[in-house]
Amino acid sequence: MIIELESVNKIYNLGEPNEVAALHDIDLTVAEGEMVCLRGPSGSGKTTLLSIIGCIFGPTSGRATIGGKRISRLPDHFLTRYRRELIGFVFQHFNMLGHLTVLDNVTLPLLPLGVSPREREKRADALLSKLAIGHRKHFPARQLSGGELQRAAIARALINNPPIVVADEPTAHLDGQLAREIVDLLAGLKGEGRTLILSSHDPLVAGHPRVDRIVDLRDGRIRHADAGG
Ligand SMILES: Nc1ncnc2c1ncn2[C@@H]1O[C@H](COP(=O)(O)OP(=O)(O)OP(=O)(O)O)[C@@H](O)[C@H]1O
Ligand SMILES: [Mg+2]
Repeated sequence: MIIELESVNKIYNLGEPNEVAALHDIDLTVAEGEMVCLRGPSGSGKTTLLSIIGCIFGPTSGRATIGGKRISRLPDHFLTRYRRELIGFVFQHFNMLGHLTVLDNVTLPLLPLGVSPREREKRADALLSKLAIGHRKHFPARQLSGGELQRAAIARALINNPPIVVADEPTAHLDGQLAREIVDLLAGLKGEGRTLILSSHDPLVAGHPRVDRIVDLRDGRIRHADAGG
């Protein structure tokens, strides 16, 4: 199993008056090469769960093993290292740096890996052309349309050739045709042997023929089909 979560809990602001229990007793395993879609209303914990899978932060309690690395209770610098090696993360709000060009944004994850500038640009060119935004390469990110930003964010997530791709609401800012293209593109990564975990409200995503499994979240818990309601 490339992802193994056991009794995972996440509490934000633990012990503070603004404490929020965002995930409760999550048990989830994902096999290598699977494509899993997380579904659930706003606030149900999708981004929180993806953040743990994506090695952005560890759980408050429980066991999380990602790509064979036990990430629960690891010091942050290890978490960062595993994230760089294992994960491509497409953020719900993109997290692109507006004043930097698309090229600089996309190649940013390669800087700590010591990849040469020439190699960085070569890899970026290949991805930008695959995503049909090569013509925006030298534009500052803040000048891009929503759909272009979405594609640049996907290019950035793939630049380190990660075995696990996490995409949080990847079609939220796109219209029908473009949304379909993006989902097909993400689903195509599965054909390359990558593992994909996405969250979405969009039936286009959850209903995609390449999705192996849908996981429903409600109030921070996985809702099983036999639970009724
Ligand atoms: N950094 C944070 N600090 C405190 N509470 C947070 C934080 N991030 C999320 N939460 C809370 O945790 C719960 C789950 O949030 P999360 O963002 O995971 O939901 P979501 O399913 O991704 O929602 P959406 O569909 O709106 O993106 C919510 O109640 C939210 O208010
Ligand atoms: Mg979210």
